[in-house]
Amino acid sequence: MDFYDKDLVSIRDLTKEQINYLLDQSEKMIPYAKGEKVKKVLDGKVLGNLFFEPSTRTKLSFESAAGRLGCTVIDVSEMSMTSMSKGETLADTIKMVDGYCDVIVLRHPHEGAARLAAKFSENPVINAGDGAGSHPTQTLLDLFTMRSAKGSLEGLNIVLVGDLKYGRTVHSLAEALTMFGAKLTLVAPESLQMPKDIYNHIVEKGCKPVKTAVLEDVIDQADVLYVTRIQKERFPDPAEYQKVAGTYRIGNAILREAKSDMIVMHPLPRLDEILPEVDDTQHAKYFEQAFNGVPVRMALLCAILGGDING
Ligand code: NCD
Repeated sequence: MDFYDKDLVSIRDLTKEQINYLLDQSEKMIPYAKGEKVKKVLDGKVLGNLFFEPSTRTKLSFESAAGRLGCTVIDVSEMSMTSMSKGETLADTIKMVDGYCDVIVLRHPHEGAARLAAKFSENPVINAGDGAGSHPTQTLLDLFTMRSAKGSLEGLNIVLVGDLKYGRTVHSLAEALTMFGAKLTLVAPESLQMPKDIYNHIVEKGCKPVKTAVLEDVIDQADVLYVTRIQKERFPDPAEYQKVAGTYRIGNAILREAKSDMIVMHPLPRLDEILPEVDDTQHAKYFEQAFNGVPVRMALLCAILGGDING
């Protein structure tokens, strides 16, 4: 698997073989991610963590992943703390940071920012979420969580529910699942359905998604229910957000309609779309999913920076 020195801007940058390789490597990282084993295979490397949008899991799990492998992290969390607040362009900022580290992890409010950064950086750039665009590393940990729970990714019946328009995690995830022949059901109010370009892309790749607004009609078919937050911050008009806020609330009542081994996932943070009563059921996988960010990002950093845990 050759992913040394490569950018990860979109999940389309990876082949199915490369994804499988990264998931296999992620499995091997688990004892290292938990600190039960220690191998500082990225000793001497530096990661630049640039987060220009709020983040808990993605930022901290990249830091944890790097730290477990002996890679130093330099970071900025707010645009106001950088020279961008003085008017410096993203391109110039990236060119500077490029000189201070070996890999750049970027979260930015604008779709396309990671692609732009990759153009201006000689070192690899990892997209940690670009506006309503995509979130490929979240997809890797989502796939890892599904594969761990279900044994295989092939042919799973996946229901994606919530904000499919602005939710970047489901954009990357739908594309990746299509590579694995998943059956996708897209549950959202019409105004929050999957953007046309992504919908057309997955159809072109052989997926035949079912679209509906009614979760009750499809939940009994699901192997995985992937719930997303309605992305309030991306609505141009707050009144439009109010119309769809709270549309889906997953509680134990609706889960009684589901297969007993169906898993519920969520990239988090959640608002009210999964009730706390679900946390203690056999369905809940979202906290394990959040932990999986560490081994998966360790595997990715090793692949990109050339660290070999097996050696
Ligand atoms: C998501 C994101 O930032 O896109 N969170 C995450 O990375 N785990 C989901 C969200 O904010 O709703």
